[in-house]
Amino acid sequence: MTHAETDHPRWLSIAVEAARAAGEIIRGGLHDELDVRYKGDINLVTQIDVASERAIVDHLRAQCPDHGILAEEGSGHDGSSGYRWLIDPLDGTTNYAHRFPFYCVSIGLEYKEDVVLGVVYDPIRDELFTAARGAGARCNGRPLAVSSTPALKTSLLVTGFAYDGRRSTHNNFRHFIDMSRTVQGVRRTGSAALDLCYVAAGRFDGFWELNLAPWDTAAGWVIVGEAGGRVTDFAGRAFSPHTPEVVASNGKIHDAMLAVLNQSSASPRD
Ligand code: IPD
Ligand code: CA
Ligand code: CA
Repeated sequence: MTHAETDHPRWLSIAVEAARAAGEIIRGGLHDELDVRYKGDINLVTQIDVASERAIVDHLRAQCPDHGILAEEGSGHDGSSGYRWLIDPLDGTTNYAHRFPFYCVSIGLEYKEDVVLGVVYDPIRDELFTAARGAGARCNGRPLAVSSTPALKTSLLVTGFAYDGRRSTHNNFRHFIDMSRTVQGVRRTGSAALDLCYVAAGRFDGFWELNLAPWDTAAGWVIVGEAGGRVTDFAGRAFSPHTPEVVASNGKIHDAMLAVLNQSSASPRD
C-alpha cells in the first residue's frame, strides 16, 4: 500500500478523534481517585495516562494499521508504511496529579526526518491545536501566528526542567538564571507540548528545554513551524523530535535566545 500527502488531511482527522477521546478520559479522571505510581524519583504515571494511551493507540491502530507507534507509556510497534505516530497520552502528569489544570494530549505523525502533522488537545480549556506541514496551524479552526516581539527584554518566555535535573549536571538551572536576568519574564508551566503551542499562538515569545522526548515535542514542532516560528537545537541546527534540546521562538528573538543559552554551561550548583 502506498501513501501520499493527500492522505494527510484524513490522518489529521483521525488524530483529532483520538486526541478528543483521550481528552474525555482525562476530564473523566478528574472525579476519580488517582493511582499515582513513580517511574523515577519524581516522574509520575497514573491510571489515566495508561487509559488515555490505550484509547489513542486503539483508535490509531484501527484506522491506520500500517503505521508504527511510539508512545510514552510503552505502546510501540513498527509499521510498514514508513509513518509512525509519536504519542504523549498526558503531557503534564505532575500537574494532573496535583489537580493543577495545565496538561494536554499530544500526537504527531513522523515520516522520515519530518513530522507531517501534529495535534495537541487541552481538555480543560477545550483548545485543539492542529497543524499539517505546508497547510498552516490552527487553534479550534482559527489560524495561529507567532508573536512579533522583537527583543528579549520585552519577551515572555517559558521553560521546563527534566525529571533527572536534580542528579544530572546537564540541567537547566544556569540557563534559567541567565535568561531570567535578560527577559521580561520566564514561566514554567509543566507541559512542554502546550508550551510549544503557546509559542505558536503568540502567548509566549519563546520556549527552551533540555532532555525532552520525541512524544513531548513532535506535534508542537510542526505547530510552531506552521505558525511562522523557528525551532532548533541549542546550537541553532535543524530540529528533529529525536533532538533532546529544543529552542522554539517567534524567529525574531531566536538568535538572542541561543546567545544567552550558550553564554554559560549548565552547573548543578546554581
Ligand atoms: C513533562 C512535561 C514537562 C517537562 C518534562 C516532561 P510528562 O512530560 O512536558 O513540562 O518539563 O520534561 O517530561 O511527564 O508530564 O508527560
Ligand atoms: Ca511529556
Ligand atoms: Ca506524559
